[in-house]
Amino acid sequence: MLHHTLFSVSLLAGQALARTITVSNGCNYTVWPALFTNPGITPPDVAMGWEAAAGSIVDLTVAAGWGGRVWGRTECDFSSDSALPSTCATGGCNGGLECDKTSGTGVAPATLAEWTLDADGSDWYDISVVDGFNIPMTLTNTGGGRNSSCSTDLNPGCPEALQVLDSDDEVIGCNSDCAADPTNEAACCSGSQHSTPETCPSSGVEHYQYFKDGCTDGYAYAYDESSESALFKLDSSTEADYTVTFCPS
Ligand SMILES: *[C@@H]1O[C@H](CO)[C@@H](O)[C@H](O)[C@H]1NC(C)=O
Ligand SMILES: *[C@@H]1O[C@H](CO)[C@@H](O)[C@H](O)[C@H]1NC(C)=O
Repeated sequence: MLHHTLFSVSLLAGQALARTITVSNGCNYTVWPALFTNPGITPPDVAMGWEAAAGSIVDLTVAAGWGGRVWGRTECDFSSDSALPSTCATGGCNGGLECDKTSGTGVAPATLAEWTLDADGSDWYDISVVDGFNIPMTLTNTGGGRNSSCSTDLNPGCPEALQVLDSDDEVIGCNSDCAADPTNEAACCSGSQHSTPETCPSSGVEHYQYFKDGCTDGYAYAYDESSESALFKLDSSTEADYTVTFCPS
């Protein structure tokens, strides 16, 4: 009953709530999840990275107002004690097993789950392959908001120019056009000619459709809001929690 009382009070005050983010590894291989908090926001008191065996589930608590991202790293080897991103085949960050809180943003390509909590009274969230793809992911919620999904494995069909290979020549990541060539301003929505939604349409991104077909409810390029299936929100005063699932079934 105490819990019920607190909830009612916070609703009356329109107060934002802490969130639980559950990170579930549905892949049949180990993933090393990573967490990064946006600049200017206090990181949560949880590990910034950990080893997630196939089938494992970890709960994180983030405070109201948090903003940041969760992603998965693959084929990591921390035995050399190296803190460089190259300790993982994809998604590696500065810092080692735990990503550095200020510089551990992670290296493309990586599928990202992203949040901006409590902005204008809403929690905003999405899955993004703007920086390329490494693992199929979903981001579901218990608050009735739309679920975000990049659930197709985009590695097997990845166009050759975008492929990232591991040491066994397996395709383990698929760069976005921007990640493959950061000087491609039409694909990156950068530079004075392409920096707005109007001047950076999806038609300027060569492999947009490949990513959008597999990432039906997620960001397939920087200004994908116009697809109306990229960025989702729910009322910040809704009691809701989130689940990130790698390799959803
Ligand atoms: C994991 O799943 C893939 C695809 O279903 C399959 O090809 C592979 O053999 C599985 N690996 C293991 C270790 O079970
Ligand atoms: C989102 O996914 C969760 C978990 O699978 C499900 O319970 C919920 O109904 C889904 N929400 C929507 C709006 O489809």
